[in-house]
Amino acid sequence: MILGVETSCDETSAAVISPRKVYSNIISSQAVHVDFGGVVPELASRAHVRKIIPIVNEALVEANVRLSDIKGLAVTHGPGLVGALLVGLNYVKGLALALNIPLVGVNHIEGHIYANFLEGKSIPFPFICLVVSGGHTQIVLVRDHLEYRILGETRDDAVGEAFDKVAKILGLPYPGGPQIDQLAAQGNPDFIEFPRALLKSGQFDFSYSGLKTAVLNKINEMGEEQCRFSLNDICASFQKAAVEVLVKKTIEAARSFQVRHITLAGGVAANSLLRRWMTEDAAAYHLNVIFPPQKYCTDNAAMIARAGLEYLRRNGGNNLDLNVFPSLRLPEYQKDTND
Ligand code: KG4
Ligand code: ZN
Repeated sequence: MILGVETSCDETSAAVISPRKVYSNIISSQAVHVDFGGVVPELASRAHVRKIIPIVNEALVEANVRLSDIKGLAVTHGPGLVGALLVGLNYVKGLALALNIPLVGVNHIEGHIYANFLEGKSIPFPFICLVVSGGHTQIVLVRDHLEYRILGETRDDAVGEAFDKVAKILGLPYPGGPQIDQLAAQGNPDFIEFPRALLKSGQFDFSYSGLKTAVLNKINEMGEEQCRFSLNDICASFQKAAVEVLVKKTIEAARSFQVRHITLAGGVAANSLLRRWMTEDAAAYHLNVIFPPQKYCTDNAAMIARAGLEYLRRNGGNNLDLNVFPSLRLPEYQKDTND
């Protein structure tokens, strides 16, 4: 059994898992940021300090285990907010020292990818993973366990960030993704034709800052009253533009690298249009799509524990001098002539 801890942003989370089972996955989302319309780093660190011990205790109680049953520790050590990451890492270092068990630092993005392997599930290698969160938008070729190649990524804003910023412009609460998803379900996606950036063939990079600006310009042009009246239609049109690029590029990546399996990862993978559209387009090309359950898409410690388990199995743990890396990148394998 592995204890996982995640504190990279505004969720304090702890989970107890084995390869086949999630015994507990406690997630405490920090409410302190709501009034600010986004995460305030210093407030996030302080909230993690207050919550980390009760959340770990809750995870142990719900899993019905004691600390002495835990055989390894996994903690996010990047990317993320430096102060927030430090709380989780130092707490886990203390546990590792006290219990004399190995600890491993996990890349947060890798954790999102491994959400697909929770509860004994697995995906045949190689597969393409579309990583879509508040901080990242990447198409990753996963060749084998822990072997990644980034085929494309955003050149500016992440898609989740675009959802959150558009929601803020529309006066919707943070995080905006789930709100827009819900309102869009009652709107007309063809109400406004927003731009689809970099939608060229053979191009796997993304750009979302132009879409955000296009929404802002349109809203200014429409005026407050008409905007309020057409809120659902604006949400649906924005969502369609944001999702279409994700779907088209992911399918093209799978086809050009001759990979049959596609997975989604990260908070935006919870989006209902993305899930539906990806499934439909993939079926048309006889590709297989796998999503993690919604509860494992947004930040949680079970996914960190699952990726950590793979490291502990293969490479053992890290030393206690492990540090946090706010801009940590997914480790890429060396490309060789066969790739
Ligand atoms: O992976 P995550 O929990 O945290 C990061 O690592 O960033 O992703 C959070 C992002 C936020 O931008 C949030 O608005 C977005 O995921 N999100 C969604 C949905 N649920 C969460 N975006 C679109 N549709 C959703 N249903
Ligand atoms: Zn995340």
